[in-house]
Amino acid sequence: MHTAEKQKISVKEAIDYQVVTADEPWEELAEIIRSINTQQAVFFVDENVFRLQDAFIARLESLVKRPILARVPAGEQSKSVQNWASLVDFCLEQGIDRQTPLVAVGGGVTGDLAGFVAASVLRGLPLIHIPTTILAIVDSSIGGKTGVNHSVGKNLVGAFYQPRAVVSFLKVLDTLPDSEFISGFAEVLKYGAIEDTGILALLNGRSILSLRKDPQLLKEIVQRCIKVKARVVSEDTKEAGLRMILNYGHTFGHALEKVAGYGCISHGQAVFAGMVAAGVMAQKLGARIDNSLIDQHAAAFVTRGFFDHFSIEDLNKAMQSDKKVSRATVRFILLHEYGRPYLHPVNDAEFITSVWEESFQKMNQLCS
Ligand SMILES: NC(=O)c1ccc[n+]([C@@H]2O[C@H](COP(=O)([O-])OP(=O)(O)OC[C@H]3O[C@@H](n4cnc5c(N)ncnc54)[C@H](O)[C@@H]3O)[C@@H](O)[C@H]2O)c1
Repeated sequence: MHTAEKQKISVKEAIDYQVVTADEPWEELAEIIRSINTQQAVFFVDENVFRLQDAFIARLESLVKRPILARVPAGEQSKSVQNWASLVDFCLEQGIDRQTPLVAVGGGVTGDLAGFVAASVLRGLPLIHIPTTILAIVDSSIGGKTGVNHSVGKNLVGAFYQPRAVVSFLKVLDTLPDSEFISGFAEVLKYGAIEDTGILALLNGRSILSLRKDPQLLKEIVQRCIKVKARVVSEDTKEAGLRMILNYGHTFGHALEKVAGYGCISHGQAVFAGMVAAGVMAQKLGARIDNSLIDQHAAAFVTRGFFDHFSIEDLNKAMQSDKKVSRATVRFILLHEYGRPYLHPVNDAEFITSVWEESFQKMNQLCS
């Protein structure tokens, strides 16, 4: 008789890593590279960062004896399976070993792509993120989600792969265009809404762009955001539950991105509008939150009339097909009050329609 032998294998994942944020944390970065004990490193650098930050890139390269550099063209289309494959080829052709760190220098596009290359080459290279956009600093570089897009949809091919370290040089934000700076602040406001209300207080009555001239305050805000993201992802490394709160504003936002066509509306504009809509929905359900702490920033993100051409019918359809939706029920993250998020399923399309209508009217008023 056949008796199957069963053995249990316990897998412990050591995933502690450092997130360093300062104007120019060169010493900390050099120390991290020294700890990997390598003579060489592969740098994947966003092409705009390469073009605009030559002194920064030269200094990065000088940290190892043999720097190996590849430029990543700017834009979402770089996050493709084809690009991933050619960067894997590039790494292998350079004769690297498992000790060779892969350093991702750029925004979320470079980070997601480089992260997936690092996860795959030789079954895993030490990955160091050097995020250069607000979004990448406070969000995409932390938490280990890596990957590329597929013709079936965004971010559908990838892996959870934690970096060895994340080192943010806030000075490099000097060349980031204003539109990208503002777009990343949708996520900043989100962290304020879902957990650290102090972030909203620090931004109350201040324009987002004014932070470009206040590096101290910018650093404080960014560090507080990282704390929220770090807490959430370390409690839920593989997106089993709690991470869902990071989707505040994103259920509405993804629908807007889908209907507009990716690239026609920035992620920040979509998420910001999504948070305004989530505020409207929560109030309709009886929550007493001071939406003005978010709403006051509307004019930074959109202009009057921006949403007039969106079809609410199309938006509702797009929500139904979102991967986070089951059957006709759409799941929203809402707030009882700032800092107290909860999951709220809705299967009443008329109610959702009324929320869209009210939010669009509201945004027009806020921008007039
Ligand atoms: N992995 C995650 O957890 C996660 C989370 C959120 C978003 N993302 C992904 O992040 C991506 C968006 O990232 P993003 O908003 O950083 O966009 P991005 O990487 O496309 O960068 C935005 C633009 O800024 C330019 N740029 C970057 N840094 C610069 C600098 N310092 N100076 C001048 N120009 C600079 C880039 O060339 C690009 O044109 C999306 O693909 C999204 O799916 C991933």
